[in-house]
Amino acid sequence: MENENIIEIKNLNKWYGDFHVLKDINLNVKKGEIIVVCGPSGSGKSTMIRCINYLEQFQEGSITVDGIQVIDDIKQIRALREDVAMVFQHFNLFPHLSIKDNLTLAPIWVKKQPKKIAAATAMKFLDRVGIADQADKYPNQLSGGQQQRVAIARSLCKDPNVMLFDEPTSALDPEMVSEVLDVMVELAKEGRTMICVTHEMGFAKKVADRVIFMDAGQIVEENTPDKFFENPESDRLKLFLDQILSH
Ligand SMILES: Nc1ncnc2c1ncn2[C@@H]1O[C@H](COP(=O)(O)OP(=O)(O)OP(=O)(O)O)[C@@H](O)[C@H]1O
Ligand SMILES: [Mg+2]
Repeated sequence: MENENIIEIKNLNKWYGDFHVLKDINLNVKKGEIIVVCGPSGSGKSTMIRCINYLEQFQEGSITVDGIQVIDDIKQIRALREDVAMVFQHFNLFPHLSIKDNLTLAPIWVKKQPKKIAAATAMKFLDRVGIADQADKYPNQLSGGQQQRVAIARSLCKDPNVMLFDEPTSALDPEMVSEVLDVMVELAKEGRTMICVTHEMGFAKKVADRVIFMDAGQIVEENTPDKFFENPESDRLKLFLDQILSH
């Protein structure tokens, strides 16, 4: 089953009112593949990955994740959310809950896990991202990089097959970027399927199987990191790479 597609996006089109935000997106992702998505602001990167776990509805086309059809059906959506984790730019931790409670909330209340089991799982993943010693603190007592590692640990608690990252390091101070990227590199090695919207090109070169460039709602170019960076084909990608690499 090595070549099995875990995500299939076919002819995906989405509009916000009259605005055609996603234009005929086609993308197959194999199990264990690491995809990096980049492109200018407003090109539809967030919208596309949000469609994958149905945080956004779409009008045309189809998405299948791990055999689950992404449609407006409560059972399918529930199954989808079990399988797909998402990590956001702004962590989205609950400020009034301790780090540990942030991780155990959904397992206890949604999945009805016994508290002890949920707590043990939480500690396991906090340890994995290197912050088990912060478990009893509150989010605002942690640095941005630590909070993002908590958010990653939280997403791991449900053992997702697919992880979606939407610019997980872009809200961080520069000195905290690498601690989060290091965690993501480790996850990439574990064989989980990952789609990461990021402009961290070092990360893309290190772990991506494919890099995708979006512009104006379309996938304009996709390639292995080597070819993507060394031999960009379209003028739009050349211009984009010039811009981000000159920063
Ligand atoms: N809820 C919404 N209603 C109307 N337009 C929206 C909505 N959300 C996003 N858009 C528009 O859709 C386009 C794509 O937005 P999206 O957030 O997917 O871009 P992006 O590539 O992730 O950009 P960025 O790099 O800035 O995060 C933008 O022009 C944006 O203004
Ligand atoms: Mg975005």
